[in-house]
Amino acid sequence: MIQLQNPSPLAALDQANKSLASHPKGGISAPDQVTVTAVTHWTDKLFSFQTDRPPGFRFQSGEFAMIGLVDDEGKAVTRAYSIASPHWDDHLEFYSIIVPDGPLTSRLRHVQIGDKIILRPKTTGTLGLARLRDGQRLYLLATGTGFAPFAALIRDPEIYERFEQVILVHGCRTIAELGYSQKIVADSRAHPLIGEMVTRQLHYVPSVTRENFTQTGRITTLLADGKLASSLSLPPLDPAFDRIMICGSIGLNQDIAAQLLEKNFHEGNLSSPGDYVIERAFVGDGI
Ligand code: FAD
Ligand code: A2P
Repeated sequence: MIQLQNPSPLAALDQANKSLASHPKGGISAPDQVTVTAVTHWTDKLFSFQTDRPPGFRFQSGEFAMIGLVDDEGKAVTRAYSIASPHWDDHLEFYSIIVPDGPLTSRLRHVQIGDKIILRPKTTGTLGLARLRDGQRLYLLATGTGFAPFAALIRDPEIYERFEQVILVHGCRTIAELGYSQKIVADSRAHPLIGEMVTRQLHYVPSVTRENFTQTGRITTLLADGKLASSLSLPPLDPAFDRIMICGSIGLNQDIAAQLLEKNFHEGNLSSPGDYVIERAFVGDGI
């Protein structure tokens, strides 16, 4: 973590980001390789890892980049990965699935501290605050590794300035698959600079579908039957007050978008900020 002495969290984080990324976004100075500095395996299919951050590598919380490895023939195998660390942090973090025969993750799963990873300098994505109109509450709805962009956003002070309440819902099959989001939320609440905002404004709702747990059920069901809002003593979803970011499988994204359209929510983009934005957590049907 960056050592910050400025008493204002926003000013301090902004200052840190500027010193980390003194080059313009997409500048040519960012090298295409980073070094792995930490690895944690959460289940046999999920792991996270950290890397150093090239001095010129600049991004917005919630964006993704292309990362990868060089294969045995010397060819780069890269895939889109959400950056799970916030824009102000001095390291980069990624949260990954393991696809047993996947061209990238069958090898990426074995990365260790000191290994080199390809990191392309360009970052992009639709899960940006600039695409949303102002509102009172921000819902972040994720399944599986779709939590990764929200791991960055819930640590970005700007969302707590823009929204009074942030409701993070993470849906998984099993309790063990919630391990990473539980840890990120706990660490964020205890963080010396953002902890107070997170504790006061973030509601974390983990839910599982294939085991007994304190909260069970698909996100789509929790939204449709109103249980999500009522369990937090919040009013039903309303485009006048609520903004939503979604990141999951194509099926989940489509099902939630259909519910939102029925309630007159409009998708946002940069030229016309709206009520919700969507990003795919991956391409394909899942494993
Ligand atoms: P691939 O050949 O890429 O995938 C094989 C199959 O595995 C896919 O068809 C799909 O059915 C399934 N699959 C792939 N990724 C996932 C996943 N994440 N969850 C469930 N099933 C999956 N993956 C991450 O692990 N973490 C991220 O932060 C992440 N961010 C992404 C952001 C964007 C915008 C997109 C489009 C994809 C993202 N992905 C992420 C998916 C990632 O790009 C790769 O598909 C994944 O790493 C597997 O690579 P692979 O080469 O091993 O297998
Ligand atoms: P379920 O267990 O009922 O399939 P996956 O690991 O397949 O990506 O799923 C992650 C979580 O997303 C699981 O809890 C799964 O529920 C849920 N899910 C999968 N598809 C949808 C969908 N179309 N709508 C809502 N939730 C979904």
